[in-house]
Amino acid sequence: MRHMSSKLRVTAVAAGLACIAPLACKKESRAAGEVSRNWMPAQQPAYMGVAASQVQTAIKTRLAAAPPAPLKADEWNHVKSLYTRFNQSLLWLDDKGVHQPRVSALLNAIANADMTRAWDGEEGDQWTQFADEFDDTNRSIWARFLQDVAIERADRVLDIGCGCGQTTRDAARLAHEGSALGVDLSSSMLAVARRRAEAEGVTNAEFQRADAQVHAFDPGSFDIAISRLGVMFFDDRTAAFTNIASSLRPGGRLAMLAWQDITKNEWLMTVRETLASGRDLPMPTPGVPGPMALADQDDVHELLGRTGYESIGLTSIEEPVWFGADAEAAYQFVGGIGIVKGLSDGLDVGTKAAAHERLRAALRAHETPEGVRFDSAVWLISATRT
Ligand SMILES: C[S@@+](CC[C@H](N)C(=O)[O-])C[C@H]1O[C@@H](n2cnc3c(N)ncnc32)[C@H](O)[C@@H]1O
Repeated sequence: MRHMSSKLRVTAVAAGLACIAPLACKKESRAAGEVSRNWMPAQQPAYMGVAASQVQTAIKTRLAAAPPAPLKADEWNHVKSLYTRFNQSLLWLDDKGVHQPRVSALLNAIANADMTRAWDGEEGDQWTQFADEFDDTNRSIWARFLQDVAIERADRVLDIGCGCGQTTRDAARLAHEGSALGVDLSSSMLAVARRRAEAEGVTNAEFQRADAQVHAFDPGSFDIAISRLGVMFFDDRTAAFTNIASSLRPGGRLAMLAWQDITKNEWLMTVRETLASGRDLPMPTPGVPGPMALADQDDVHELLGRTGYESIGLTSIEEPVWFGADAEAAYQFVGGIGIVKGLSDGLDVGTKAAAHERLRAALRAHETPEGVRFDSAVWLISATRT
């Protein structure tokens, strides 16, 4: 982090470099309130993302003390930036007219703050700009989801990390006597989602900016929680999946898509290999916030088993991802996605150009009459709320 500009760090985090470069990440807090100390050494190359900042950890520690310990100057600055971003009452004035932190609001605002900065910033804007391309990339995977997961006509659906909302709108059409709520961190993606729902005449879909890890959903108010690749970015998975479980009625269903191991995802391996440029990039570790967070079957069973679910199952879906009609169109899209930027922005000009030429060549090698396609593998993770 020390070697990374804040702009690049944000890009890298959202790009899932937390996963591609797992050692750079803060390890998940496995118990509520547990403070992570698993930080990378200072020599992190610039492409490595960091999932949460040390100052946030320090703030959490101080606030968790009984009574809460006073914050230091840099911590107050961080609180100030959160205050601006979240526009909510994080502070109160004591009887001497001094601002004091409102502990629970502040802790909630801190949850996933780096992911929020990324998704509600540059990364979200990029997804907004290429909304159609991202939907097209995952269309075969999404078709399999809809085939395998029966959304009933009266279901109340929660779509976690709904992005630009294609999945929420599809769910709302299936649940035409029910409703669908899409939640996401990204204001710009949610704006697209709302516009498209209106344009498509989908009247039973709503969208809300919320962090699914901590948002106070009405307890038991959903029949099914779904997600297409939006559930791997939680700073505290235990808190997140417990919170999602409490939003479901007893017997309610969870059905979500998450990437399998990187080695099963030709597209990610190709990006990584073409852009490595002589660097020895570490392999991602399941459990760390980022695209591979739910890649390990045993880990997912254990996680969901202790956060309020039963009948847990993982089904492998192996469908191609689609990047464009031809290699040039694919490059215009893939060349700017977060993971590519994160892996190549730290390279010097010549090395970066060579890396991108290798990426172009790989896209050309994957041209088919149906467009540029790569193998991929996701888990369809299903469970029932206890
Ligand atoms: C890989 S994108 C997938 C978007 C969408 N589901 C799709 O398939 O197009 C991941 C999404 O999860 C959202 N996200 C990440 N962490 C989140 C959180 N804690 N709460 C709500 N949304 C979150 C991001 O803002 C982003 O839109």
